[in-house]
Amino acid sequence: MEKTKKVLILTGGGDCPGLNAVIRGVAKRARKEKNWEVYGSIEAFNGVLNEPQEIIKLTSKRTAGIHIRGGTILKTTNKGNPIQFPQKQADGTIKFIDRSDELVKKLNDLHFDAIINIGGDGSQKISKTLFDKGVPIIGVPKTIDNDLSATDLTFGFQTAVQIATDSFDKLVTTAESHHRVMIMEVMGRDAGWIALHTAIAGGAEICLIPEIPYDIEKLVKRIELRYKKGRGFVNIVIAEGAKPKDGTITASAGEKESEHVRLGGVAFQLSKQLKDAGVKAEIRETVLGHVQRGGSPVAFDRVLASLFGVKAFELALEGKFGHMVALKNNSIVSVTLKEATKDYNFVKKDSYLVQAAKGLGISFGD
Ligand code: F6P
Repeated sequence: MEKTKKVLILTGGGDCPGLNAVIRGVAKRARKEKNWEVYGSIEAFNGVLNEPQEIIKLTSKRTAGIHIRGGTILKTTNKGNPIQFPQKQADGTIKFIDRSDELVKKLNDLHFDAIINIGGDGSQKISKTLFDKGVPIIGVPKTIDNDLSATDLTFGFQTAVQIATDSFDKLVTTAESHHRVMIMEVMGRDAGWIALHTAIAGGAEICLIPEIPYDIEKLVKRIELRYKKGRGFVNIVIAEGAKPKDGTITASAGEKESEHVRLGGVAFQLSKQLKDAGVKAEIRETVLGHVQRGGSPVAFDRVLASLFGVKAFELALEGKFGHMVALKNNSIVSVTLKEATKDYNFVKKDSYLVQAAKGLGISFGD
């Protein structure tokens, strides 16, 4: 009889529609091999580090039908980086400590034959560190931001764009009725993919993204032109990380243990800048926030996530550890974690996407 093998799945960082479809994809494919058992760690690596540990067996009952559900049945956290683990000190301050060796020991003691880490940029950097320390790990890229360069697309992105576009469409009709300037803020800390796709899909007049700092005077001119010669209302999409040419962005401090500063509020900042620069029309602001990450994944994301899940398990079968699954030229492939974590996927100013958006009359304020 063949030896029983065990695969551990975990989801880390911000959640994203499609995570459950990956989990189900791994589990279904693994069940076709009679000697594999599938487990999940609760809240990323915290399930392994915590005492008592929180590791659950992913039976077919637990994974049945979950591909259509948003969120993650395994829960997630952005306060569980084992390399920089936030630890509360007696005086209430937070100290970041490296618990990676402790984690590796615990994983070895649990005798997993493969670990599948579903996460974004930060999670895949953790995967690489663990792989370098001998852990048999495979990465699956996830993020609504689409900011991983080693894959053509991440799952969750299309869902976020669809949610943002549906919201944008609703703002267009009310902007038109009131002759208003509507500013809609979407997610995108460092990369403007969601904003750019939403602007094209929704037909925005202005699209502001982190990669292209904007000149407020140019925006004022674009708005004035639209009121004089156009349809008398303006719809703007702005990514949460977009900034003016001479200035910074608003960011609330966020929680101390969190991996990132929390953004949000640039729509209000832009609104004030436009008013200060002389825009007379009424302006309203909408911050979409976490709505973009919630709910059921669209069909495209369910398919991509399912394929990623199946492929991740097949890499485990082949013993191809230290790799991340990726979508490249319409094929599901694998890239090394080194390659996967090398570059960030910024929107390129000279890309055809930006040029085409300009061709459609969208201003970036540059
Ligand atoms: O990386 C995904 C993302 O949704 C970003 O677009 C956003 O800035 C961030 O996560 C929000 O994080 P949190 O859920 O911790 O507020």
